[in-house]
Amino acid sequence: MTDGEYHQPSARVVQVAATREELATAVAGRISEILAAAIAERGEARWVLSGGSTPIDVYKQLVADHAETLDWPAVRFFWGDERSVPATSADSNYGSARRWLLEPLGINGRAVQRIRGELGQRAAAEHYSGVVGVALEKGRWDLVVLGLGADGHTASLFSARDVTAGQTALAIATAAPVAPHRRVSLTVEALINTRRLLFVVSGESKARAVRRLFDGDSELPATHVLAGHQSVEWCLDRQAMTLL
Ligand code: 6PG
Repeated sequence: MTDGEYHQPSARVVQVAATREELATAVAGRISEILAAAIAERGEARWVLSGGSTPIDVYKQLVADHAETLDWPAVRFFWGDERSVPATSADSNYGSARRWLLEPLGINGRAVQRIRGELGQRAAAEHYSGVVGVALEKGRWDLVVLGLGADGHTASLFSARDVTAGQTALAIATAAPVAPHRRVSLTVEALINTRRLLFVVSGESKARAVRRLFDGDSELPATHVLAGHQSVEWCLDRQAMTLL
């Protein structure tokens, strides 16, 4: 169970879990709830998954607790960002989701619209801009889940240029300061076009970025995502909240 919910002035809901494990359980429950509501209302749920390592515990919890309770064949999977690597690479965000969520649930085929990291950055960004454009013509995402880097990046938006690129594209090539350097990311505009937006943050290393975000530090790419959505839901563990 989480420690409780705190409603922030900007209508942000903050759920706090005592440990990383409890965070994974709480986030899996919230994701299942959001997807089930979308399926009930519209017959399908379109979920933009985040990358990095934090979601893996959530995927495991979704398989453990929600494999039977959610109509998984009605879920459509997209990604907020990807590294320019093959799907078989240990660095692939799609590869992590496939290993820990999609394969255990028997999900594949057209329900899964991954970023084709093997194409190289520009071709992959161009291809995915088209995929996202078609998807958003049907309406907003139902759920976007984002992580947060210790430097305040989110998805693979690392610089001020990355944040402003969205006026012309839905997915862009970006450069990460850490390997894998070549990335493809949805733009701020493509990420905030969603009914529900969850930031999932775990660990002491993110505490300073969380503090700067809550202070509205405009130097952080994640601040621009936060500012662009009227009801962000924060899911944090206590370690990530130590500076609040
Ligand atoms: C990526 C992510 C990135 C990630 C954060 C947090 O491709 O790396 O999309 O934005 O969510 O860097 O990563 P961890 O969950 O590994 O701390």
